Amino acid sequence: MKKNKNKTLNKVFNNDAREILKFLGSDIKIKTTITSPPYFDMKDYGSENQVGYGQTYELYLQDLKSIFESIYSITDNDGSLWVIIDTFKRDNQVVTLPFDLSNKLKESGWLLQDIIIWKKDKTVPWSTKGFMQRKFEYILFFTKSNEFKYNKDRVRNFDTSQLKRWWVKYPERYNPKGKALDEIWEFPIPVQGSWGDQYVRHFCPLPKEMVATMIEISTDKEDLVLDPFAGSGSVLFQSSIMQRNYVGFELNIEYINMFEDYIKKMHSKLKKEHSKIIDNSDQTLFEKRILELRALKFGRILVNKIEENFEIEAKVYVTIRKFLTEKTKLLEVDYELLMSENIELNTFLNDILIKPPFSKFGITAKIKFKNNQELKRGKYYGYTKTNSYAYSSLPIESSKIKVISKICVNLKESDYE
Ligand SMILES: C[S@@+](CC[C@H](N)C(=O)[O-])C[C@H]1O[C@@H](n2cnc3c(N)ncnc32)[C@H](O)[C@@H]1O
Repeated sequence: MKKNKNKTLNKVFNNDAREILKFLGSDIKIKTTITSPPYFDMKDYGSENQVGYGQTYELYLQDLKSIFESIYSITDNDGSLWVIIDTFKRDNQVVTLPFDLSNKLKESGWLLQDIIIWKKDKTVPWSTKGFMQRKFEYILFFTKSNEFKYNKDRVRNFDTSQLKRWWVKYPERYNPKGKALDEIWEFPIPVQGSWGDQYVRHFCPLPKEMVATMIEISTDKEDLVLDPFAGSGSVLFQSSIMQRNYVGFELNIEYINMFEDYIKKMHSKLKKEHSKIIDNSDQTLFEKRILELRALKFGRILVNKIEENFEIEAKVYVTIRKFLTEKTKLLEVDYELLMSENIELNTFLNDILIKPPFSKFGITAKIKFKNNQELKRGKYYGYTKTNSYAYSSLPIESSKIKVISKICVNLKESDYE
């Protein structure tokens, strides 16, 4: 855990969130706030002055508004706010708390960027007349300005067991860093053991993977994360193991004591576990594989187009020259056609390469002609006219082999159905 050089960092204040500005100096800059406010008056968290319990709805909303207004004033210009909140039923009618609160926060300057659904796998097993079984809560994502931090590439899905066939068959259609998150987040409610022994018995902490996703999107290392209604401290704990600074407010001292005890016992173990999960070498490998598949598929289409339009047999030798980082330019690739140069073919290629499908690949292609079909010594892999996803052990001379390369991609589409 970080040494607390600044006395307001990495601690939980046993104070009222309505007094945040009294305890956090105006020089403090919050990068993101992640919080689940107290449920209106449905739950007694066991302390005086709590927001929600025993209040009227109007007063409750007003308190939340003024707390988030204070937070706005000490949030960095590229900062944000995540509020996990739900509707509820009163006097036989749904109270639209997420939307009522959003309207209040908009008045304070917060910009509502997104509404995400947190789909929980299980909740209370009952429903009532006119109210289905509850399965989700809302996550409201606000920002202070339009120049907000948003590291969306860090939370892409590149788990190939979940991505099925598209990534092998259509590598040109999707982001090589993985599939973007959608607006429905499925995270089970923590059960005993997922936050470590003893911990969840007393609380309803948020799922750590969900909190980690928010932290990853909206902050970098050393940034400051706030939870004004810290409860069990799940937001603060996750921030700490992700090497962010944190600050929290919580009225119930027992919760704070438990959090401090928990962080002492579990910090280094869970930090180690987390650093294993976020090891981004898997994403780098995924990206490389997608780009290799693109380079090969481009070559395959090139051969197909030539053979469809000219009465010649074509083969192409593919070499990736450079991996680039621009949005629409991802690769520089040499395509050496194993045939003699031909003006008509050249004109044809110049015309088709600037149009789809070729223009969709993010590939800057250099077409060359290699009259002498001899390839330099070395190990090559051959790909057929229809498949760029399985290299063949057939000799390069085989007429079935149309794409030749040192790139080795041995993936069968049928394995990813
Ligand atoms: C829904 S819980 C937060 C749960 C938390 N996200 C977690 O993961 O455990 C709301 C918390 O806000 C606290 N609280 C209520 N009123 C408060 C106030 N005025 N200032 C600070 N904390 C307050 C309650 O004691 C309770 O722990």
